Amino acid sequence: MQREKKPFGTGDASFLAAGGEVGLRRLVDSFFDRMGTDPRFSAIYALHPDDIDVSRDKLARFLCGWLGGPKLYNEKYGAIGIPRVHAHLPIATAERDQWLDCMAASVAEQPYANEFKKYLMEQLYVPAEAVRRRCAVD
Ligand code: HEM
Repeated sequence: MQREKKPFGTGDASFLAAGGEVGLRRLVDSFFDRMGTDPRFSAIYALHPDDIDVSRDKLARFLCGWLGGPKLYNEKYGAIGIPRVHAHLPIATAERDQWLDCMAASVAEQPYANEFKKYLMEQLYVPAEAVRRRCAVD
């Protein structure tokens, strides 16, 4: 009997659809390479610490757990709340959209199924918007 594939968002289905840790590290490398070289994203790149390799490691590990895989961020860096770790940053709609556009371009060039690319970007909008709201000057 053929086993049905689990829908994205169930168990580790999304983590596997992203190619596991190797696939997510590849995505994150593309994301930060693009952010560091494409002038459209220079404003958000400038907000990052000098040691961008730490940022790469943190985001890749976070995405593994967030997509239902092993909790690699927590193992190395401890607990995390995404809005909270951005609260000190000047992130408004323009910065949120730069981040999402940069990510969308990197997701687009990964060997993921098209339906997963669409799903992943819809899911990433949620924390990106939560960051913007947390950073909003009120
Ligand atoms: C909304 C647009 C976003 C911008 C402009 C942004 C920018 C940044 C910057 C500048 C840092 C470094 C902060 C520092 O070290 O002082 C950072 C850290 C981080 N971001 Fe974002 N980010 C955004 C959204 C997101 C989203 C949606 C996620 C997750 C899906 C994410 C995950 C992370 C993680 C895991 C860290 C490392 C936190 C730590 O351990 O210090 N970010 N982000």
